[in-house]
This record gives sequence, C-alpha cells and structure tokens, in this order.
Amino acid sequence: MPTGTERSNEAFVRDALGGTRLAAVRWVAETGSTNEDLAAIARQGGGEQVLITDLQTAGRGRRDRRWDAPSGSGVLMSMLLRNVVAGEGFWTVGAVALAASEAIDELTDTPCRLKWPNDVMLGEGPEQKKVAGVLAQVVDDAVIVGIGINANWPDEVPESMAERGTSVNRNRIDRTFVDRAALAANILRRAIGHLESDREVLRSAWKARCATMGQLVRLELEDRAIVGIAADIAPDGALQIDDDGVTTTHQVGDVVHLRPAR
Ligand code: BTN
Repeated sequence: MPTGTERSNEAFVRDALGGTRLAAVRWVAETGSTNEDLAAIARQGGGEQVLITDLQTAGRGRRDRRWDAPSGSGVLMSMLLRNVVAGEGFWTVGAVALAASEAIDELTDTPCRLKWPNDVMLGEGPEQKKVAGVLAQVVDDAVIVGIGINANWPDEVPESMAERGTSVNRNRIDRTFVDRAALAANILRRAIGHLESDREVLRSAWKARCATMGQLVRLELEDRAIVGIAADIAPDGALQIDDDGVTTTHQVGDVVHLRPAR
C-alpha cells in the first residue's frame, strides 16, 4: 500500500503530467527495478506510463552494473515509451538526459552538463562528478528509459560514493534538500517536449549541453582505450574521436574527460 508521502508525491507528478502522453504515473515505496517492472508491463502490451520509487533492491546501471541509492535519497524513475522511430534509440535516451540536465541546472549553483553517452554531470573540469545516469532497454516495439538521480545526500556519505559521484543538494550553496516530486515532474514535462521535437533541434541542444564536445578524452572500450579529441556527435548519436587526423566513430564506451581541447 502506498504511504501518505508516496501518495502525495504521486499526486503531485500526476497533476503536473495530466493531459500529456505520460499522464499514467505510479510512485511506489520499494521495488526491484523500475526498468524491469515496466519491461514486464511492456511485454504484456501496456501503454505509455511512468514508474517512480523511493528504493530499488536490484537497480540496474549501464554495462551490467548496479545502481544503488539509499531509500528516499534519489529520483529513481522509468518511462515506458511507444512509437519510437527505429534507429532513434540514442535520441530517445538523449531527450531524457537533456531534460534531466536542464531541470537539475535550475536547482544548483554549479553547471549541469552531459557526458557522452548519457551521464549527467555537475561541476566543471576535474571537479566534475556524475549526478545522474540513464539506462534504456528495448522490449518488442517499446523502449523503457530509466533515470537515476542522486537528489538528496546527507552530509556524511561513504567515501566510495563521494569519490564517484555527487548529488543535487551538495551543489546548492545552502545544501538544502530538493523536492523530488517537483524534480521528477519537471524532467518528465521537458522530456516529452524533447521527444516530440525535431531530431536536429534535439541533437544541437544536446550537443550544446555536452561537456564531452571538444575535450581531450579517453574512450574505454571492452578490450582497449582510445585517446583523442571528441570531435562530434553523429546524427545517430555515435561519438566521433579525432586522433591525429584519423577519425573513428563509436556507438559504446565509457568516456573519461582528460582536459579541455586547445
Ligand atoms: C547508469 O549506469 O549510468 C544508468 C543508471 C540508471 C539507473 C536507473 S534508476 C531507475 C531505473 N531502474 C533501474 O533499474 N535503472 C534505472
């Protein structure tokens, strides 16, 4: 049974999304993974909807990693999307990452940017840390896009957490906790706008917010790493790296920002 807090969070997001394609919103106290839950619903033919939770016991991250967050500290949310045009998968995820970056930027005193492929980062230069990540999975003709945002961290967190990432409230001068329902609603409304926009308009807005563009980067692949300048994002979302005049194009990999290009 939903508690009062989940009910009011759910009511807030439902009100904000009323009349849109993502009007069906549920906010639950705990689940395994919101992505897995919506994947099961998609297999049964379910329509477009949103699932948000306070706690995941089997949260999934990119490249088969886990995504863990203390209960109530994050925005853990998935969208079941239909009518995604074939070959547009990167931009479906990109629309959500861009929406999250814009919404987080409104709440923080440090800039919020994107790191290819779809990490959401706070801070600048070597101080830049991950605040949110996006994970998509295709189920028949549906796409499930899940986002995990470190919204509210207490003052003390394990060193391993603080080394790898940051939270929205840690990037506010007064460090006050953010309203997770308002943040979720803002992201969803913006995501709908980006999903329905022209792909070139979306690509150029995404690139303008992407800290990877023009940087000297190391791209870590399964079996090797490539170092070069991140020259462009191809129309299908692939990363183009220029290494001494030789350009290579990559669909997957983990980017490390080394330093700004001259
Ligand atoms: C990443 O590794 O950067 C992507 C993390 C995505 C985590 C979110 S939390 C909500 C949704 N449900 C999951 O199991 N994963 C995604």
